[in-house]
Amino acid sequence: MGAKAADELTVGDEVEVEIGPVAHGGHCVARYAGRVLFVRHSLPGERVRARITEGGSGDRFLRADAVAVLDASEHRVPSRCPAAGPGGCGGCDFQHVGTGHQRELKARVVTEQLKRLAGIDREVRVEALDDEDGLRYRTRVEFAVDGATVGLRRHRSHTVEAVPGCPIAVPEIDAGLAEVRADVAGDPGALEGISAIDVVVPTGEEDTVVVEVPGDAPTPPIPMTEVVDAPLGRIPMAVDARGFWQVHRDAPRVFVEAVLAAARVEPGERVLDLYSGVGLFSVPLAAAAGEQGQLIAVESDRRATDHLRENLDDRPWALVVPGRVDDLFGVPRKGPKGAKGGRNGRGRTRGRPTRSDLLPPSADVIVLDPPRSGAGRGVVEALVSLRPRRMVYVACDPAALARDTAYLAERGYALTGLRALDAFPMTHHVECIAVFEPARGSVPSP
Ligand SMILES: C[S@@+](CC[C@H](N)C(=O)[O-])C[C@H]1O[C@@H](n2cnc3c(N)ncnc32)[C@H](O)[C@@H]1O
Repeated sequence: MGAKAADELTVGDEVEVEIGPVAHGGHCVARYAGRVLFVRHSLPGERVRARITEGGSGDRFLRADAVAVLDASEHRVPSRCPAAGPGGCGGCDFQHVGTGHQRELKARVVTEQLKRLAGIDREVRVEALDDEDGLRYRTRVEFAVDGATVGLRRHRSHTVEAVPGCPIAVPEIDAGLAEVRADVAGDPGALEGISAIDVVVPTGEEDTVVVEVPGDAPTPPIPMTEVVDAPLGRIPMAVDARGFWQVHRDAPRVFVEAVLAAARVEPGERVLDLYSGVGLFSVPLAAAAGEQGQLIAVESDRRATDHLRENLDDRPWALVVPGRVDDLFGVPRKGPKGAKGGRNGRGRTRGRPTRSDLLPPSADVIVLDPPRSGAGRGVVEALVSLRPRRMVYVACDPAALARDTAYLAERGYALTGLRALDAFPMTHHVECIAVFEPARGSVPSP
């Protein structure tokens, strides 16, 4: 078959391409006759045969997998996981890359996002956490269930890959998976009505917790304890087995140290911890502010706020405000894509929420750790109006961080510190802890 024209490429076609720079999302950019391909399982500088996995004529770009490496990068290594690779488990993006170079690729992505979305030139170094070769670090894995198959989903697919185990998870997780599989082998209907199996290895408990997640009902509360080795001592924290907790076994300790160092809270100060979860940062921040100070934690998840109250119980100067950060600050939620005239999905106008009286008019320090979508313009503007002397932004998505960095700069807050931490080796994910302060000479406008 002769070479296809670029605009005729469809799923299943294979083309030879030179791989260009790494891009956000776990793939690299290549061009075929000018058409952009995002190629997984490749590395910058390689020549590969890429099989198209998504897209066709009319699409702005195509997705592809490198199915044969014709000219390999020096940073390519044998995959540590038999289930990773083209068509396999979608959990890891960089199993084929040396760990040092994974961090280099992530650093390039953070640098590029900051340049492109915030106009900031900044060299970034991604720091390793305490893990051996980027393996055996995850303390929780949610396995997908399809009939009697238990495994992990393929990339951008609902198909469940029956992985033999997960080399980035702590060994107890593989043991939990093996137990579930043994149960299913004895009774093939054992997982009827179950959509997922969550295996959790809490640091404060002896036993692994295996949660069968029902497909059509909420999981009942499963309280457990995590223990954090914080600078001020060991902190036991109540959390639900299905609730948010940092997945890398070393992340809670390292993040708490980094946030405390970045926040520089003085006794007597008023500190806000937004998107607080069960209080990983709230508890040490409340200790730093002391009883002459104040800690206000905001979290929307009901179960998390119950645990947050429990975790802050012995600090009466800490206030838990349940609810969404945007609603509580009176910031209108963004409507669904394509909606017009401020109407919500049900066709009713969603009015501007009223700012909560529980939120203060000012704050000395604000820590925020939003979900992947980031804080957004409205929340950024509300935070700036509190005139904090310092904001610490914990970000799991460098693109959202870069976008919010631009909003903060518009309002007079400059990026003055940045650490990037490799809390998710073998994947493209990276955690950033950024510090913002009023830009010199500028008075932040409300
Ligand atoms: C990335 S987690 C961080 C939690 C905590 N800082 C930690 O490290 O354990 C984000 C938290 O924000 C909560 N959340 C998501 N959207 C929210 C919103 N709009 N307002 C308040 N909390 C929200 C989630 O329930 C989750 O607990």
